[in-house]
Amino acid sequence: MWGGRFSGKPAELMQAINVSIGFDKRLAAQDLAGSRAHAAMLRKAGVISSEDEAAIQGGLAQIEAEIAAGTFPFRDEYEDIHMNVEARLRELIGPAAGRLHTARSRNDQVALDFRMWVRDACDRTAAQIKALQRALLAKAEAHAGTVMPGFTHLQPAQPVTFGHHLMAYVEMFGRDADRFADARTRMNESPLGAAALAGSPFPIDRQMTAEALGFARPTANSLDSVADRDFALESLAAASICATHLSRLAEEIVIWMTPQFGFVKLSDAFTTGSSIMPQKKNPDAAELVRAKAGRMLASFTQLSVVMKGLPLTYSKDMQEDKVPTFEAFDALELSLLAMAGMVADLEPNADAMAKAAGAGFSTATDLADWLVRELDLPFRDAHHVTGAAVKRAETLGCDLAGLPLGELQALDGRISAAIYDVLTPQASVASRRSYGGTAPDQVRAQVERWKEKLA
Ligand code: ARG
Repeated sequence: MWGGRFSGKPAELMQAINVSIGFDKRLAAQDLAGSRAHAAMLRKAGVISSEDEAAIQGGLAQIEAEIAAGTFPFRDEYEDIHMNVEARLRELIGPAAGRLHTARSRNDQVALDFRMWVRDACDRTAAQIKALQRALLAKAEAHAGTVMPGFTHLQPAQPVTFGHHLMAYVEMFGRDADRFADARTRMNESPLGAAALAGSPFPIDRQMTAEALGFARPTANSLDSVADRDFALESLAAASICATHLSRLAEEIVIWMTPQFGFVKLSDAFTTGSSIMPQKKNPDAAELVRAKAGRMLASFTQLSVVMKGLPLTYSKDMQEDKVPTFEAFDALELSLLAMAGMVADLEPNADAMAKAAGAGFSTATDLADWLVRELDLPFRDAHHVTGAAVKRAETLGCDLAGLPLGELQALDGRISAAIYDVLTPQASVASRRSYGGTAPDQVRAQVERWKEKLA
């Protein structure tokens, strides 16, 4: 491939460490699209003849067909996808193939291909995030009024509704989708035409290839064009954050599925059995989603470490950008699909949730708020009185709603029976009508807002 400069062959170990076709064959579609646009532009710019362009386009079409049919010969001796395509093109159309690489280098070629691959991955991911959000919305709507305990420190805090809890994830995944969209906007500039690093002496039209490939514009600095991988880093950062959200939801499903919680059930479709313990139904899919977050985070770290300290412009180190990126998106896409499936499958046990929602003196804040509202106590004093009420209930072995009025009046003689109205979990959630609060009406309003947003 290197023409006159080399007389010897690479050592086997050189080839072993250098070869990338095993993984960069995943860039085949992007490589062909880039070559097509480049050939059309070279012809229009008068750099190659119409006959040569026609031959090149015909050859590229045949290569595309061979790849689709699984007959394309991916060969290690041609190192990577770019040279594999070019070598095959030469076999198919002869010397005209050699004109395709005019005003182009593998440096801008790989920057282009990889950018387009990441752009596609961001688009697919954004669509999958939306599908997951829709699954969450449907469950949230059905359970806008289903009370459950809200937790801080994984200790019962205040009652919330299951719908509200699920809507929290709709918000998180909404920001994730926005992050992918932002990353896409920033990466949507075409590096093609930067050539090796300095630009090209040929009268190329970078605007034309940028447009043909769906980019907003060409990149403005040729060095940056071939040296930049922050489009991949940014996408991997977005993927890591999204995976973090997925793993939190996965963890909650695992917790909720335990018999001790018993908040939700997953069907046989999303659970596995045990080879020894016949009673088991394990939330393996949730556990795997929880674990796969490690891949996205590792990939971000991996590529950051590859790029850190690299001098401008291209170095072969950058060939190591692809595997972590492919792995991260494969894992993320599978996780998003599996999570959407699990969410749709998830059946809450409303009774168990309601029971738990009332436990742990979860309406203590409601009691304190009542003292503030009705008796005009400063909140700090109300907090103190309520703490004493909780202590008393604990001693008597009852919950707050079970405390006799006399007990409450011993703490403050002005307390009336009306206080019991705020001590149930249902009353507690219904009262939290502030914007974004857990009151079922608020939850439904947010569901509507999101439905419109996702429509
Ligand atoms: N396979 C290479 C990569 O993935 C393509 C670019 C090679 N460029 C070079 N100057 N060796 O980075």
